[in-house]
Amino acid sequence: VEQTYIMIKPDGVQRGLVGEIISRFERKGFKLTGLKLFQCPKELAEEHYKDLQSKPFFPKLIDYITSGPVVCMGWEGVGVVASARKLIGATNPLNAEPGTIRGDLAVQTGRNVVHGSDSPDNGKREIALWFKEGELCAWAAVQEPWLME
Ligand code: GTP
Ligand code: MG
Repeated sequence: VEQTYIMIKPDGVQRGLVGEIISRFERKGFKLTGLKLFQCPKELAEEHYKDLQSKPFFPKLIDYITSGPVVCMGWEGVGVVASARKLIGATNPLNAEPGTIRGDLAVQTGRNVVHGSDSPDNGKREIALWFKEGELCAWAAVQEPWLME
């Protein structure tokens, strides 16, 4: 089954949005496979966002992601990568639809409260990057037959 890496960024933690954001993924019907509060070291932030290294905003992005604790999550489900990106909304919160996390809860690209993997391959890569072995749980959710026929 598909996996995605979702991260509540430091602004989401500081603004008290952790419960609200986790709740949206839970209510949709996805399964939580990993969860921790974590102060991200600079090297990990740089590795995570290495595709954006050449962008002018890269140093600011690294400062932002390392500016306070983040909430790291693994979520599992059919189509979870694309669906989570829809729940999160557009990168620039001013362009994000109402009803999405960024559309409802954020204003600026540089403070867009949450990250979501952009492909199933990156979902795997990012979960392996942010979690150690033993930090993830494989478990059977009793609601599954009520979510999928
Ligand atoms: P993530 O889920 O965090 O990866 O966001 P995304 O996939 O919607 O956007 P992308 O991967 O292109 O950029 C990663 C992050 O870099 C964004 O979520 C923003 O936090 C930040 N970022 C992207 N573009 C800009 C920009 O033009 N200015 C600033 N300040 N930050 C940006
Ligand atoms: Mg991205």
